[in-house]
Amino acid sequence: MQGAGARGETGVAPVTVVDHPLVQHKLTLMRDKARSTKGFRQLLNEIGTLLAYEVTRDLPLEPVEIETPMVTMQGAQIAGKKLVLAPILRAGVGFLDGMLSLLPSARVAHVGLYRDPDSLEAVEYYFKAPSDLADRTVLVLDPMLATANSAVAAVDRLKERGARDLRFVCLLAAPEGLAKFQGAHPDVPVWTAAIDSHLNEHGYILPGLGDAGDRMYGTR
Ligand code: URA
Repeated sequence: MQGAGARGETGVAPVTVVDHPLVQHKLTLMRDKARSTKGFRQLLNEIGTLLAYEVTRDLPLEPVEIETPMVTMQGAQIAGKKLVLAPILRAGVGFLDGMLSLLPSARVAHVGLYRDPDSLEAVEYYFKAPSDLADRTVLVLDPMLATANSAVAAVDRLKERGARDLRFVCLLAAPEGLAKFQGAHPDVPVWTAAIDSHLNEHGYILPGLGDAGDRMYGTR
């Protein structure tokens, strides 16, 4: 796992590229334009599970006393309230089942944003989240951090509703999107499977994998 150093060195939360061989292998399969809708969806779920493992690596633990069949012992459990998974509709939903398989008690918030095809700005059409966001770690999910308009807007909305401890998880990031996201939300660390070359004039990531939502739902 490649991290961008300790938090605070630059005043900007780190970007972690999850370079685990399984993640990189599955990502390559997803990039292939010949991959079927079914295969693409399954791989996105599988990578979601692997990213959930990495993004929760540093969650604080607290001691808990339990009884094994043999003795009483002090174990460890994740401290605090359950996590919130906040997929940005619609492509972010592709991570959800895979992440929930590892975090089955997580709460789920939905942030409905679409990208206006002309302005590329994020337009909100739905928002529903637990009322106690201020007390929970929120994982914001979107496979593609491209222009970052949706990511910035989603984190804006979640912060407006009280969220203070957020992490952003994507599959691919463009350097332009990362810079914009970090400028708007320097307190929010990012996890991604890869940082690609650049955006094209339509806001698509190159080399990328095309439109993640369309490939996942077979809507092209
Ligand atoms: N959204 C996508 O689905 N793909 C891109 O390349 C950029 C944004």
